[in-house]
Amino acid sequence: MTVPSPIAVGLLGLGTVGSEVYRLLADRGSIMARAGIPLTVTRVAVARAAKPRSIDVPVSILTSDAGAIVESPDVDIVVELIGGVEPARGYILRAMERGKSVVTANKQVMAAHGTELLAKAQAARVDLCFEGSVGGGIPLIKPIRESLAAGRISKLMGILNGTTNYILTRMTRDGSTMEEALAEARQRGFAEADPAEDLDGHDAAAKLAILASVAFHVGVSGRDVFREGIRRITRKELAYAAELGFVVKLLAIARRRNGEIEARVHPALLPLQHPLAVIPEEFNAVLVEGDGMGPVVFSGRGAGGAPTAVAVVGDIIDAARNLSVDAPGRSTPSLTQTARMRPMEDVTMPYYLSFQLTDRPGVFARVATVFGEEQVSIASIVQKSRGEVADAILVTHDTLERSVRRVLARLEGMDVVKAVNNVMRVEATI
Ligand SMILES: NC(=O)c1ccc[n+]([C@@H]2O[C@H](COP(=O)([O-])OP(=O)(O)OC[C@H]3O[C@@H](n4cnc5c(N)ncnc54)[C@H](OP(=O)(O)O)[C@@H]3O)[C@@H](O)[C@H]2O)c1
Repeated sequence: MTVPSPIAVGLLGLGTVGSEVYRLLADRGSIMARAGIPLTVTRVAVARAAKPRSIDVPVSILTSDAGAIVESPDVDIVVELIGGVEPARGYILRAMERGKSVVTANKQVMAAHGTELLAKAQAARVDLCFEGSVGGGIPLIKPIRESLAAGRISKLMGILNGTTNYILTRMTRDGSTMEEALAEARQRGFAEADPAEDLDGHDAAAKLAILASVAFHVGVSGRDVFREGIRRITRKELAYAAELGFVVKLLAIARRRNGEIEARVHPALLPLQHPLAVIPEEFNAVLVEGDGMGPVVFSGRGAGGAPTAVAVVGDIIDAARNLSVDAPGRSTPSLTQTARMRPMEDVTMPYYLSFQLTDRPGVFARVATVFGEEQVSIASIVQKSRGEVADAILVTHDTLERSVRRVLARLEGMDVVKAVNNVMRVEATI
């Protein structure tokens, strides 16, 4: 029996994910048994070559010149685990131009430049795989692209940011403040360095753009995603939502309808029996719906060096297998379709509104008239008297976002409305 010649891997980055990827690939016997192809790491690039490392990498293969790895004729697959947009994008493009397949876990570069990078991969007939960029160790891209390919996917709904899910879980379950819960997430090592990435929904929007592109075969970028974060949520609002039978999650939702794509990240009320309502702490989950298939839910740890490395090495094995049969490019998703992005004002769903009113007879009737005049129909109301003022919490039937915005503008101008506390969208159905 002839032993196939090893596929050479060049690793860019040896941080949280890169060092776990190196650890997995260094166990060559085990990788050979699983992949059926010998893989060997021939070069590793880091920013600071002299920095002490927790893993043993031969000095002879370590360099601070990532460009040299990308250009090297002795590297078959480039694995980009540096992060950020540049220089990562430049290295990925150059590697593909040199005919190398690329594996990355970089959500920022894929969300901002995925269309360009995938087009380059198609043109160069190489693989560009990015399973680790969304949901850490949860398989999402490959199942959506391959296993569910026959069911035309119409909707994705997910909890894609572990930090905000942890914060909302701790606020709801344990009465923590947002600041306390964020500090705990930091201590446990899964919060992004820049809190805006988590709290304002940038991280979830980038991941949703990547998933929507793969599911709908359309180039969706992070900038196309409507985005609203969790900063305005208070423990009081979470308690009111619970009284109405809902839990609040930061949801990432993409839907294809009538040639249009809707993509949005925002806090939303979910009924307690919804499959995503029970996803706790820093866990992630994605629910996929399509023709002929019931809802399918994927869930697990959405980040972390070791789980993400499993996804990255899975991609490396795919790319290596394609190379070994002289068919690189088979695992690159193609964006063959076009669609218009649906403006948020045209999206319809139920809404949760919470505001403070002067607590006097007839006041609510005046407010209700505004809802009626703007064609917003109220499904349920709870009023909590607090002396001079009362909190009014109501949930509407399906309503156009545009109509809700008109109601809010009018409420804000009324003397009996002391404050609009919060407005959240409701995802009432699976
Ligand atoms: N951490 C996670 O849980 C997770 C989960 C999913 C996806 N990801 C993604 O995986 C990627 C890597 O994340 P990470 O957490 O492993 O990052 P990290 O710990 O910050 O590691 C980054 C690595 O890149 C190296 N580096 C930085 N700039 C470089 C350059 N110009 N040339 C060569 N090497 C360079 C650094 O070198 P030094 O070691 O010398 O500083 C370090 O080894 C990111 O795209 C991230 O979004 C991470």
